[in-house]
Amino acid sequence: DIYRASTTAPVNIAVVKYWGKRDAKLNLPTNSSLSVTLSQADLRTLTTATCSSSYTGEDSLTLNGAPSDISGARTQACLRELRALRVALEKKDSSLPKLSSMPLRIVSENNFPTAAGLASSAAGFAALVRAIADLYELPNSPTELSLIARQGSGSACRSLFGGYVAWQMGSQADGLDSKAVEVAPASHWPEMRALVLVASAAKKGVSSTSGMQQTVATSDLFKERIAHVVPKHMKLMEEAIAARDFAKFAEVTMKDSNSFHSTCADTYPPIYYMNDVSRAAVRAVEAINAAAGKTIAAYTFDAGPNCVVYYLEQDTAAVVGTFYSLLPSTEGWKDQAKSYASGAVQ
Ligand code: DP6
Repeated sequence: DIYRASTTAPVNIAVVKYWGKRDAKLNLPTNSSLSVTLSQADLRTLTTATCSSSYTGEDSLTLNGAPSDISGARTQACLRELRALRVALEKKDSSLPKLSSMPLRIVSENNFPTAAGLASSAAGFAALVRAIADLYELPNSPTELSLIARQGSGSACRSLFGGYVAWQMGSQADGLDSKAVEVAPASHWPEMRALVLVASAAKKGVSSTSGMQQTVATSDLFKERIAHVVPKHMKLMEEAIAARDFAKFAEVTMKDSNSFHSTCADTYPPIYYMNDVSRAAVRAVEAINAAAGKTIAAYTFDAGPNCVVYYLEQDTAAVVGTFYSLLPSTEGWKDQAKSYASGAVQ
């Protein structure tokens, strides 16, 4: 027999950023974070997990059609935890097939090009964990599975839900309280849109994993961020989402991105993810909001130069239209600029 499960997981873009680990092995963060999930119709990872007693050899992983390394510590941590949960089920019910002792074959693909400049590790680890959890028929909730996905990549824990998702940092040393929870489903604020502007599809210079370690080790500004700035932003952001207050949502989104990139600049030696093209996008958003006489667009930047602009559907013409007229292709933006809806996990 061959046992099989397929699942998809969405991309998420943080509006209050995760930046800093208090435990690098368990991927425990120094602050809570909050993200908006993008529609899976546009952006998702599809993962199929199979196992069979007829399979020989080790577990294997295929990513976008090519064999990929499965031996990394983070992937292994996820596989180990999922197998342990299956072993517990098989111990309780001896009639269950012994899937836990069969080699796993995991096949994963993104429906967005690497050239979209979007980090794929969040959707990738979330889909991997869900596919195997489904294959093993684990009864665990998305929040429980988020503890496992977190060990693959911190931001992945937020891709177990759709809509608006918080990663609560937790305080325990074992990480059992560092998990993702749904703040609101996508249907709560379905007009939310994200415009992805690609300044560069190249892989980032300093990976988030290493960048955040350097920031934690050297930045004094970072201490202020985690002690005061992020707790304030988390509270304001949850209020803004609950009230569907876009102006408030936008202000916190932009301030938190600015705060995060300031701690990068305060890292020693400094880390610069944003470039001239990114800064042109910031100015364009400011111009759009000034022309509208209110805040209808919000920029945010992850660990790279690409810009994500959040706006509401009714402002599409004013935001997307104006963006294109303000940012001619000569400014360095690639053609892939694309707009996405916020979306739910099916
Ligand atoms: C700037 O989740 O990629 O996108 O846990 O080391 O895999 P690891 O880091 P990762 O970091 C994401 C950082 C960020 C902000 C965010 O998504 O919250």
